[in-house]
Amino acid sequence: MGRVTNEMTTLAGLRQALLAADYGLEAVTERLGESALAGLQRNTSMAAVDALGSSEDPQATLISLFALQRTVPALQARAALGNLAALQQAELIDTDGDQVRAAVEIRPYGFADAEGDWEGWIVHDLNTTLDSRGTEPRPDFVLGASPASTTLAQLTVPTPVGRALDLGTGCGIQVLHLARHAASITATDLNPRALKLARATLALNELDADLRLGSLYEPVADDRFDLIVTNPPFVMSPPTGERLVYREGSFAADGLMREVVAKAAAHLTRTGVLQVVGNWAVIKDEDPARRLSSWLGTMDALVIERERLDPYEYIEVWLADAGQLHAPGSTERYRAWLDYFAAHRIEAVALGWINAFAGGQGRRDYLSWPHAVAQPVGPAMATYPQALDASQLSDVRFLAQRWQRPEGVVQETIGEPGAADPQHIVLRQQFGLARAVTADTALAAVVGACDGELRLGDLLDAVAGLLEVPAEALIADLLPRLRTLVEQGFLVPDEPLALGVGRWA
Ligand SMILES: C[S@@+](CC[C@H](N)C(=O)[O-])C[C@H]1O[C@@H](n2cnc3c(N)ncnc32)[C@H](O)[C@@H]1O
Repeated sequence: MGRVTNEMTTLAGLRQALLAADYGLEAVTERLGESALAGLQRNTSMAAVDALGSSEDPQATLISLFALQRTVPALQARAALGNLAALQQAELIDTDGDQVRAAVEIRPYGFADAEGDWEGWIVHDLNTTLDSRGTEPRPDFVLGASPASTTLAQLTVPTPVGRALDLGTGCGIQVLHLARHAASITATDLNPRALKLARATLALNELDADLRLGSLYEPVADDRFDLIVTNPPFVMSPPTGERLVYREGSFAADGLMREVVAKAAAHLTRTGVLQVVGNWAVIKDEDPARRLSSWLGTMDALVIERERLDPYEYIEVWLADAGQLHAPGSTERYRAWLDYFAAHRIEAVALGWINAFAGGQGRRDYLSWPHAVAQPVGPAMATYPQALDASQLSDVRFLAQRWQRPEGVVQETIGEPGAADPQHIVLRQQFGLARAVTADTALAAVVGACDGELRLGDLLDAVAGLLEVPAEALIADLLPRLRTLVEQGFLVPDEPLALGVGRWA
């Protein structure tokens, strides 16, 4: 038997051991309790160790080994895992005399999506900051579930697709999400160790993906996808000193992000979607919206800037991430990083989400949106291109259309207690980006009446009659605002529009 086949057999056996020990997200959460889980979030295991006490049952053994990085007597480990030699050969555990320790972290992982609840595991490198271990991450360190991983999973359009690409797969976490709605998945990484651990993640979860080694789009040169998702190594840092492949690429400034976006169109199908979570530079005297626009070509795009950090804050975040903020030599490193930013004229760094749609007309929306959103935002991203098309119908077609309010659009009013009319009306979404717009009585009345029954033109006539204003004046006032509401998802066509071109054909 070949090495890979051996490893697959070992991982199949390990899956059975994890299942038999009830080493799943819900069961482990229940076993450890809130305080211990909160401790692990803070990178401390004391509360979790206390929660396990001196238990030696298989579930406690697996938690100790694979989540808390504790050594376990071989006899105890064998009772939970069976064949230790095979696991050692697969580089999942290390043995030291009669003691066993984990060589990788095997984390229970789960999520809820439109399909229901899902539970499984992710395999990644051992957290180097747990209990202030102070060990330096290896340069090819493979990260587990980070906040950016979760953000990307929630941003991803959940629509069923044929082929999906996870670019820079790391431990394979996005594949677990994509497998819910993609018929086939290709996952790439520049780091061979990432592909090894992604392979383990997939085998443990009995999932399949075409794993390919290489940089950016090189391994998929001749392929096109319906969906590309990526959380690339977006950290901008000077090219000197230790670099971590999971967070910084070999490009200057945000060159890697530019490559990801600018080369995407060649790998997307006609209706393909690219979704990126990352950083981009705000360059002195340059409008970031225009800069990103130049990367996007003819794709339509909704770019959402979630946060903007000044260079000091940004550098401190990433020095701290590598445990270097207060380490010897940190002042020099900090200064060199500032000089690097100055040389590239970077005056701030934007953190955000890029959604780009093939088959577009180069339409752009660059939104600065630091506000709370209603996760998952993926479904709202999925409807964006159609909303854009619908908002640009001719006046005649727009007025002839029946529109409806999706569930979750509510009205908030503020006014004097007892007053007949409110002073402020706000229409708010309880989904997606949780957008809000101020409205007047006429706009609120029209939106309120949009239930898919009447054509907009008839509805506007009726509202004009009620308010005793000329219909033409009301239409001139409300039409542009209604178009914006359609673009932003406050109103949708009563049934999908047949525009006969592009993605509607
Ligand atoms: C921030 S991690 C994201 C991992 C995972 N997709 C997630 O969502 O958590 C970035 C990944 O990109 C990989 N990577 C770095 N440079 C790359 C390149 N030039 N081409 C492809 N992948 C790259 C890293 O090895 C790492 O696994």
